[in-house]
Amino acid sequence: MKLFRSLFSAPGCDSSTPQASTPEGSVHQAPPGVCVGESSALPEGGRLHARLEGRYVTVLRLDGKLSCIDSVCFHAGGPLGIGDIEDVNGHKCLVCPWHFYKIDVDTGDKYYQGVEFQNGKMVPGEWKSNGVRQRVHPVAEADGKIYVDAVKGGGGVAKVDSDNYACDASCGERVLHAPPAKAGKNRLHSVGGDGRAVTC
Ligand code: FES
Repeated sequence: MKLFRSLFSAPGCDSSTPQASTPEGSVHQAPPGVCVGESSALPEGGRLHARLEGRYVTVLRLDGKLSCIDSVCFHAGGPLGIGDIEDVNGHKCLVCPWHFYKIDVDTGDKYYQGVEFQNGKMVPGEWKSNGVRQRVHPVAEADGKIYVDAVKGGGGVAKVDSDNYACDASCGERVLHAPPAKAGKNRLHSVGGDGRAVTC
């Protein structure tokens, strides 16, 4: 079985106009976008990688919620889509393997930890956002299939930094062909306000 999902080869998808059936048998229009795979291919904690009109995207299911984000990191084109998952004060983030930037999978915000001074010493402070640096995309599920409505840059769409690397094949292909992350294999750990991993 292929270890990735691409626009025209996703198992369970066809390239015709997407439609979905209701349990009653009537047919309705499927969610906007392109089918990237079957729901069964994306268990809790798993991810799917796809290439949509040249753009590499990663779909994740975390705590039952779907997210879709550009696979290639805005910072220097790293393979963000295969990064560990980390919880930053309740925000699920991908951690880029190259320089460990933490990117919110739901909003595309890039987080950093501020510093504070206590008794003349510099200590880790609160986590803050540098703003949206990675583009996220609408994703929906219907009739056992997952659809991504990839946002294209340009036109009237405000630019996001990750647009610069969105179609970069050097790391995009690496992410696309990565072995599927098995449920439970994601490293999921929380980072407290003091910056230390929660160890309990
Ligand atoms: S490439 Fe530098 S943090 Fe991702």
